[in-house]
Amino acid sequence: MHSSKRKEMKVVRTISELKSLISGFKKEGKQVGLVPTMGALHAGHMSLVSRARKENDIVAVSVFVNPTQFNNKEDLRTYPRTEEQDCALLEAAGCDVVFVPSVEEIYPEEDTRVFDLGPVAEVMEGKFRPGHFNGVAQIVSKLFSFVEPDKAYFGEKDFQQIAVIRRMVELEGFKLEIVSCPIKREDDGLALSSRNVRLSEEQRKIAPNIYRVLKESCNFASNHTVAETVAMVTEELNKLPQLEVEYYEIVNGLTMQPVENWNDAPYVVGCITVYCGDVRLIDNITYKAL
Ligand code: PAJ
Repeated sequence: MHSSKRKEMKVVRTISELKSLISGFKKEGKQVGLVPTMGALHAGHMSLVSRARKENDIVAVSVFVNPTQFNNKEDLRTYPRTEEQDCALLEAAGCDVVFVPSVEEIYPEEDTRVFDLGPVAEVMEGKFRPGHFNGVAQIVSKLFSFVEPDKAYFGEKDFQQIAVIRRMVELEGFKLEIVSCPIKREDDGLALSSRNVRLSEEQRKIAPNIYRVLKESCNFASNHTVAETVAMVTEELNKLPQLEVEYYEIVNGLTMQPVENWNDAPYVVGCITVYCGDVRLIDNITYKAL
């Protein structure tokens, strides 16, 4: 457990500093938990950090806006960057190590690796954001090889991302536990996201309809088919000003493949991407839990 005499948090910017710090902890027999992030930290990220704090001796958090996972230059350019505030939050949460590398440190040369991520990465985000998951696999595999954590923490907000990371772990043979953590929401239901700051005041009022309709669809689902439920969610949201559904798919929660009937899988999740103006929001809801 973490001692009450807490050592101060270390902020490191190079891979060699990170590795030597972590290897020191490992020599002392400490268990290491890693929370990969792109910064602009909010209570969703911090819920992963506090879970990691409870379950490990050492908590390492990476803050890196990974260019290879952005398939939209404007999105990368305007992605919020709040390093000082992030470090203050992490310090207060009892984090031990923050890794804040530059792009050159992570990618001294182009990363040309192509991961065979298979069917989990071909649908939904994989279809609408070509290359995105390969970029996620590139950065997360690098972080795993630098830190070699015992556990790594990911949020169910990015539901498909967890399946992709599990696949990458299997491909690369990493020995660690992937811990998936529930979605944190605002009081009005909007899933916390670093991109929410881009919503105008009006858009911010409309965006909670996404979760409202998803929740309503759980009752609707009890006496309607999968196809009817998909249609209902899509139509209800598209009726509202500023909202445009990019996709709504009801999938097997392990394979990410669409289901036709509610009984096709033991774990069934609806995954949505909605544009609110030009802000791309994602969310999901569980119809059948494991
Ligand atoms: P980022 O969007 O910063 O998210 C970092 C982690 O926080 C992810 O695991 C994400 O699912 C989780 N998270 C975000 N919002 C959440 C919420 N409202 N509730 C619970 N968890 C939430 O996801 C990424 O960064 C990147 O793709 C990354 C994995 C760091 C690779 O670059």
